[in-house]
Formats: sequence, C-alpha cells, structure tokens
Amino acid sequence: MRLAIIHAVVLLVLTLIGVGTAGAAEPDGSRRQALVAMVRQDCGSCHGLTLKGGLGPALLPEALAGKPTASLIATVLSGRPGTAMPGWSRFVSEAEAAWIIDQLRRGFPSLDAGGRR
Ligand code: HEC
Repeated sequence: MRLAIIHAVVLLVLTLIGVGTAGAAEPDGSRRQALVAMVRQDCGSCHGLTLKGGLGPALLPEALAGKPTASLIATVLSGRPGTAMPGWSRFVSEAEAAWIIDQLRRGFPSLDAGGRR
C-alpha cells in the first residue's frame, strides 16, 4: 500500500517535470508571435530590419552557420560586454533564446506569418 502511494507520487512528479520541460522548450503560439515581433523590431533595430546586419552583424542562417549554438544563446541572454549587444534575460527565458537561435538558423519567420514560416 505505502509503496503504491510512493510509486504514484513519483510518477506524478515525473509527469509534472516532463510537462514543465516540454512547455519551456517550445513557446506557444501567442508567445511565439511576441518573440517574432521582438526580434524583428527590437533586435532588428541593430541587426537590420531584414536581419542582414547594421550596427550588429547579420543574423541570417549563413552568418550563423558553424557558430556554436550555446555561445549564441549565451550572447542573446547575457549580451557581449564591451559591445553594443545588450543581454535579454529579463525578457526571454533560456528556452526562448534557444528557440530564437533555432529560428534564426532556419531563416527567421516574418511578422505576418505570426511565428510560422
Ligand atoms: C543595441 C544594439 C543591439 C541590439 C538591440 C541587439 N543586438 Fe545582437 N549584437 C549587437 C552587436 C553590436 C553584436 C556584435 C557583438 C560583437 O562584436 O561580438 C551583436 C551580436 C549578436 C549575436 C552574435 C552574432 C554572431 O555572429 O556571433 C547574436 C546571436 C545576437 N546579437 C542576437 C540578438 C538578438 C536575438 C537580439 C534581440 C533579442 C539582439 N541581438 C539585439 C547589437 C545589438
């Protein structure tokens, strides 16, 4: 009896952790739209409205090719000290920064597409 309860609790906790991680990995539809708007507008003010570069370098797939994902995510979250690139950790989670880099690598969605390509 006691073992069954412990078993049930462990399963419940594992399920909750699993659900939590899945939720964190992929921002949902409306959050995706907000992130696309943020990247196009806020990031675009330095990286160019078409992300081809401006004050900041291009963020197009070919520009990011070969650069380590972890360091690109860290750049989005913490910025690059000594450069104009600010950190965004107050506005995006690590999972969302990872999503942004993933989208940049595939060719970033347009605002009209609402987070879809
Ligand atoms: C105020 C200007 C500014 C804004 C706003 C800005 N960046 Fe940057 N960003 C830069 C600069 C400048 C660099 C280059 C830093 C360096 O010299 O290493 C950079 C570098 C980067 C890099 C690394 C590129 C590479 O090739 O290594 C990424 C990724 C990046 N920015 C993403 C973003 C994202 C995503 C946003 C919005 C959430 C953003 N940036 C907003 C100025 C900006």
